[in-house]
Amino acid sequence: MITDQPIVLGIETSCDETAVGIVRGRHLLANVISSSVEEHARFGGVVPEVASRAHLEAMPSVIAQALREAKLSIDDVDAFAVTAGPGLIGALLVGVSAASGLALGQGKPLYGVNHLSAHVAVDALESTGDIAPAIGLLVSGGHSSILQIGDITQDVRTMGQTIDDAAGEAFDKIARILGLGFPGGPAIDLEARSGDPSAIAFPRGLTQAADLVAHEFDFSFSGLKTAVARYLAQTPNHIRADVAASFQEAIVDVLLQKALKACAQTGIDNLVIAGGVAANSRLRELAQLRSAKAGVHLSTPTPALCTDNGAMVAILGSLALEKGAKPSEIGICADSSPGLARVIF
Ligand code: KG4
Ligand code: ZN
Repeated sequence: MITDQPIVLGIETSCDETAVGIVRGRHLLANVISSSVEEHARFGGVVPEVASRAHLEAMPSVIAQALREAKLSIDDVDAFAVTAGPGLIGALLVGVSAASGLALGQGKPLYGVNHLSAHVAVDALESTGDIAPAIGLLVSGGHSSILQIGDITQDVRTMGQTIDDAAGEAFDKIARILGLGFPGGPAIDLEARSGDPSAIAFPRGLTQAADLVAHEFDFSFSGLKTAVARYLAQTPNHIRADVAASFQEAIVDVLLQKALKACAQTGIDNLVIAGGVAANSRLRELAQLRSAKAGVHLSTPTPALCTDNGAMVAILGSLALEKGAKPSEIGICADSSPGLARVIF
């Protein structure tokens, strides 16, 4: 490891994970996550106020543990990075305040970074080359987008996105109907392993010729959700694993159809799949098969780096530093819905 590269500490608090990652250049030194997911489980979704309070409580110890893991002191940190949006505003504010205070107190630069870009940027921790140019399939609890990435620190464009639910949200909602608990993605992934993915032909949203005119790279999962609910109501003796596997297959199929079409249409033969849903085992398996067939190089971060974490924030801060990007102002505002208009705030 090259030891003269800058050390960046990244803080992530956009949803229910209080997470701190530390990198040296492109090498991961620490990745500590404290989740409040169990406090939200009985509500079937994340309660923003509960999440914000949990971030406040966890922040000091998560930072301390990350520094311990990296065998560093706060004085060794050369720059701070933080998720500034999109996300839950109260939750984001805790991270932005913590990072701003640290940057100001330590007299070091601050990078407010875009959560969506950070999900993709995490790939730089595991691959040797440049991420871009690439097509990004970003699939999380809040977003499902196809991105054209020219430069992960400043040129990320949306080619298409969901017009209703995010992919992760669809997993969470169907898991609830199936009685599989929250968060639903990992539960459906597990249940589907003993089911038949071709048992039920659930609809593939926005894949018909008529839909493609206006929505070539967009997604829609609300029709699928209704179809699963209707199937369950009409089929009292359904096999739960078959429903889970068939539902998962319908989502995964559409995500990959459109992502690989984006590669073909742009001539970009590099696909990065990122975000919480990228941890899905069937998505990873089918992505391997179809990318190989299409001659597209595929990157999928290890599952632990797909769901929200601090390492992804730290590495995007580090890449921004490497590019000589202008640091953010101390006192930046968290922004709950910037889309991808800003990568560095
Ligand atoms: O990226 P993430 O951790 O948080 C957001 O930025 O939203 O994504 C969380 C989402 C949840 O909806 C969760 O159910 C889904 O990712 N997820 C999965 C899997 N693991 C997490 N979905 C499908 N299969 C999985 N194995
Ligand atoms: Zn996320």
